[in-house]
Amino acid sequence: MMDKLVSLAKRRGFVFPGSEIYGGLANSWDYGPLGVLLKRNIEAAWWRRFVGSRPDMVGIDAAVIMNPKVWEASGHLKEFSDPLVECKNCHSRFRADQIEVVAGCPACKKKKSFTAPAQFNLMFKTFLGPTEEDAAVAYLRGELAQAMFTDFKLAQETSRKRLPFGIAAQGKCFRNEITPGNFIFRTREFNLMEFEYFVPPKEWEKYFDYWLEEMKQWLDFCGVDRSRLVFREIPAEDRAHYSKRTVDIEYQYPFGQKELYGIAYRGDFDLKNHMDKSGQDLRYTDPESGEKYLPHVVEPTFGLDRTLLVVLLEAYREEEVPMAAKGGIGIPTESVGTEEGESATRVVLGIPKALAPYKAAVLPLSKKKELAAVAEPLAARLRQRWTTDYDETQSIGRRYRRQDEIGTPYCVTVDFDSLQDKKVTVRDRDSMKQDRVAIEEVEDYLEEKLKN
Ligand code: GAP
Repeated sequence: MMDKLVSLAKRRGFVFPGSEIYGGLANSWDYGPLGVLLKRNIEAAWWRRFVGSRPDMVGIDAAVIMNPKVWEASGHLKEFSDPLVECKNCHSRFRADQIEVVAGCPACKKKKSFTAPAQFNLMFKTFLGPTEEDAAVAYLRGELAQAMFTDFKLAQETSRKRLPFGIAAQGKCFRNEITPGNFIFRTREFNLMEFEYFVPPKEWEKYFDYWLEEMKQWLDFCGVDRSRLVFREIPAEDRAHYSKRTVDIEYQYPFGQKELYGIAYRGDFDLKNHMDKSGQDLRYTDPESGEKYLPHVVEPTFGLDRTLLVVLLEAYREEEVPMAAKGGIGIPTESVGTEEGESATRVVLGIPKALAPYKAAVLPLSKKKELAAVAEPLAARLRQRWTTDYDETQSIGRRYRRQDEIGTPYCVTVDFDSLQDKKVTVRDRDSMKQDRVAIEEVEDYLEEKLKN
């Protein structure tokens, strides 16, 4: 399954191996023309849902490189590490908590060959300016959260929000992972979407439950079947250093059940440490009672690349399609290279319509100029409202297959009858049903259909 998806992702322009012309760079990936559309649609839908549509949420877009004191105060320089073991025979390195150490080295199979586990810090180190000396050390952010804490006072005062309210962000994070892998599941630079929800200390449990439920509903929206989700209460010894309660939302990937998202109760751990280390008063003043206190924090966190991976995994399906009878409305054939009465396999990415890279594709039945004269202005009109593809090469059956494979919900075909009756055929990706629609009414038709 993963092989098929990785191959489709490359072939159709969702995800490419990074710097491929130089032989690539292990575990680095680029989003291609369709991948960037899907990624941006996920980001935009998330932002609309959790920020734009809510009165209790504001956003920030912070710097990737922060003052290194931030990471000292947050505990990341000390605690943000994984246990590293090295095989003394082949020198492969692994995360001790991800392999069966007693079973021997996964690379060379030698038993009892591992060094004792050593804590390996995941923060990505760099240097500011031309000198590589200790005073110039800085770090690429390992999570978005810290800027939401350091900017807490400014964001709260400038937006005049009262508790409870949240600060959200989206962006790149960096971790020097010991064992990245499984396509875009674990990489050293990745995209994160998360928010810190600031609450009165006594109310954290209510909001923890509330946000966990909201995360489930977001996953419904992304088309994820709940039967492949597992909600795992993380025991104290396995929690991140800042967390007093964590529930991981795990997904049954083809390579095993692993983390998709998480929700953590961070208490006042971060605000308190930043207040102590910076000497700045980060307390919130209750406007009614005048009481000053540090809010507590519930943090839902959503890996964007993992969301995209799961959207693709959930959307991928293969179907046997009987060849449509010739004739019928509009378009004569649904199959590729088969005779009438035979069936063909179609690969469909049933991506939720709201997230699909292209919402529509305009397909003139042939390259003839008369058809382009109708199809091109129609595509230009549709592009004003939706991402719209245009394709006039190859048989119509093959073009339908291509659009199915990239998840386009609607194909709009201009044929020779269109020149007379001023209508086009609109084909539905999932049902393959076709409707004949007046050219003037295509926008209204799609508007209605794309709502569902
Ligand atoms: N601020 C909380 C935080 O960063 P985390 O569990 O360490 O929590 C958040 O990471 C999310 O980021 C994870 O649930 C996962 O979706 C994603 N993630 C973490 N490490 C990743 C990696 N190396 N590659 C891709 N995504 C990753």
